[in-house]
Amino acid sequence: MHIDILTLFPEMFEQVFATSIIKRAVAKGRVCLNVHNIRDYSTAKHKQADDYPYGGGSGMVMMVEPIDRCITMLQEKRPYDDIVLMTPDGVPFSQMQANKFATKQNLILLCGHYKGIDERVRKLFVSKEISIGDYVLSGGELPAMVFCDAVIRLLPGVLNDETSALSDSFQNGLLSAPVYTRPADYKGTKVPDILLSGNDKAIDQWRQEQSYERTKKKRPDLLK
Ligand code: ADE
Repeated sequence: MHIDILTLFPEMFEQVFATSIIKRAVAKGRVCLNVHNIRDYSTAKHKQADDYPYGGGSGMVMMVEPIDRCITMLQEKRPYDDIVLMTPDGVPFSQMQANKFATKQNLILLCGHYKGIDERVRKLFVSKEISIGDYVLSGGELPAMVFCDAVIRLLPGVLNDETSALSDSFQNGLLSAPVYTRPADYKGTKVPDILLSGNDKAIDQWRQEQSYERTKKKRPDLLK
């Protein structure tokens, strides 16, 4: 999978893409991540990529031209399944959305900033709009990182234990069961006996029950 990210702040991605699962996915060639500085595609003096809003008002608006030039350059290399704008007025991101995007070949993620992005960008280029929650962040960079993490860990061969993405919270519509590691007794707080029993079938059943009970208690809305 190819993911190209368009941003005014490319340095924000460096650590996140060089750590843990994402780093491993890149090293194994499961995903190719490229971060592009929109400013590099500006033809204006001082590489300007934002301007004052028509009609007045506060804040700057990202200009259409540098984004157009960057997207056009990318589309000359390969066809893209989707051009995704990270925006608080987008479709709420969910595990189901992540599963769907994980089946795509090539994606462009566009990070908005400042007051917004010239509306013509949406009209001319954007095919999907995604929000990571009902709150406003300073830009689409953190949402793009959240998106990449959620999608990349689902790609075949990325997680060591092939089944572990399937037992994640939300993957079957329920929250995950509790997990424990050594010691079996920590200052008197014990690991449930069943997990030490060696009875795989009983453990599976216990996990399913715990998963259901936890969902009922913490997220009853998921059971509806
Ligand atoms: N940009 C700013 N806030 C955002 C949000 N909640 N989701 C996606 N993109 C955003």
